[in-house]
Amino acid sequence: MKNIKAIIFDAYGTLFDVNSAAEKCKDKIGDKWEGFANYWRTTQLEYTWLRSLMKRHKDFWQVTEDSLDKSMKAYEINSSMRNELLDLYKILSTFKEVPEVLKSLKEKNFKLAILSNGKPALLNELVKSNNLENIFDDIFSIEEVGVYKPDSKVYDIPVKKYQIQRNEITFLSANTWDVSGGGNYGYNSIWVNRNNNTFDNLDYVPKHQIEDLGKLLDII
Ligand code: LAC
Repeated sequence: MKNIKAIIFDAYGTLFDVNSAAEKCKDKIGDKWEGFANYWRTTQLEYTWLRSLMKRHKDFWQVTEDSLDKSMKAYEINSSMRNELLDLYKILSTFKEVPEVLKSLKEKNFKLAILSNGKPALLNELVKSNNLENIFDDIFSIEEVGVYKPDSKVYDIPVKKYQIQRNEITFLSANTWDVSGGGNYGYNSIWVNRNNNTFDNLDYVPKHQIEDLGKLLDII
C-alpha cells in the first residue's frame, strides 16, 4: 500500500446500505422485506450492465425506479409503497462505522473520493443527508462518461482528474464485480466483505479483504 495517493470508494452497498430503504418499511412489507430488497438490488445492477451492453443509457435513478417496479410486481408489494421506498432510497443510511472512518482518513494526506453509478444529484443528497459534506475532494459519477461500471471509462475518471497512475489508487467496494472491475483496470482494489460472501472468478484477486471499513485504517 505504498505510493497510494487517492482512496476511492464505491457508494451503493459500500458506504451506503442499499437494504436500509426496504428495512425501514419492514413492518409494512413483512418477512419478505429482505428477499425483496436483494431482488431489487440485483435487478437494478443487471439493468445497469444490460443498458451498457445495449447502449441504451438511462441514469441510475431511472434504473432504480424501473427495477423497483419489476421487484414490487414480483414480490406483490402494494403499489402505495412505491413513493415511500423511493424517498427512503434518496437518504439511505451509511453503514455504522463509515462516518468515523471517513473523518479519520480526512486527517491523512490522501485524496478522498466517491466513484459511483449514481447520478450527481443523488450522490450529493446521500452525502448531505448523512452529514458527510466536508469529507470528499470529489464525487465522481459515471454520468460523466454515460456508461456504467465496470466499463474502464468509468475507472479512468479519477486517474485523469488527479493525473496519477492507476496503482496509486486504492479502491474499496463491497460489490465483488466492482472490485474485479477496478482491479483488472489497475487499481489496488480492496474488497469490503461485510457478510462473509464468496469472491468472483473474474481474473482478479483483491489486495486485501476487510469485514468493514474500520480495518482500512490498519492497512494504510
Ligand atoms: C455504485 C454501485 C456499484 O455505487 O453500487 O457504483
